[in-house]
Amino acid sequence: MIIEPATAADARAIGIVHVLAWHETYRGMMPDQVLASLNPSERETMWASVIAGSGGVYVLRDGTRVTGFGAAGRNRDASLPHAGMINTMYLLGEAQRRGHGRQMMGVLARHLLATGMPDAALWVANDNTGARQFYEKLGGAVVGHATELHEGWDMACTAYGWDDLTVLTHSLT
Ligand SMILES: CC(C)(COP(=O)(O)OP(=O)(O)OC[C@H]1O[C@@H](n2cnc3c(N)ncnc32)[C@H](O)[C@@H]1OP(=O)(O)O)[C@@H](O)C(=O)NCCC(=O)NCCS
Repeated sequence: MIIEPATAADARAIGIVHVLAWHETYRGMMPDQVLASLNPSERETMWASVIAGSGGVYVLRDGTRVTGFGAAGRNRDASLPHAGMINTMYLLGEAQRRGHGRQMMGVLARHLLATGMPDAALWVANDNTGARQFYEKLGGAVVGHATELHEGWDMACTAYGWDDLTVLTHSLT
């Protein structure tokens, strides 16, 4: 398994992994019809645009297959003071609990540091206890709470922050 910057050719696989990972992660946390409405082609278009634009997208590759991805960039959430934001972090179930998430966080932190952002935050659903324990294990501190309001449902979320992203790069060899 390797983690490397995503290229335009990865957008399709990222779109598929994004939808699969949402089904695996959020079943029971959000309405089934929301999950059923997710469209890999729409995600592909969105990720192709990010890869071609701001970048900061990395894939976990198992041979030629993408089994996870992460993305980071400038924080655009005015409620948090951090310069950077870990926007996305999804590994398929088959790739979890083998250290790849820790490694991906290190790669994203290194990306932010290299682009002038010394600190960063991220948002996670409160019910996503596994991911919250992961971020806590990696030294994230609770820095905010918010509830995403959708039509007919909502999702309580917690923000985790790192004041010094270099602590995350120690996992990189
Ligand atoms: C959350 C996620 C990114 C973690 O990546 P991972 O590769 O599975 O985690 P790692 O193997 O690097 O774990 C590092 C440490 O974090 C902790 N940890 C990771 N997953 C955990 C879980 N589900 N429950 C409790 N602790 C966990 C453990 O302490 C682990 O060390 P250990 O395996 O030696 O005990 C990954 O599981 C994932 O993509 N999950 C589904 C999607 C998701 O929830 N994304 C986050 C959205 S905000």
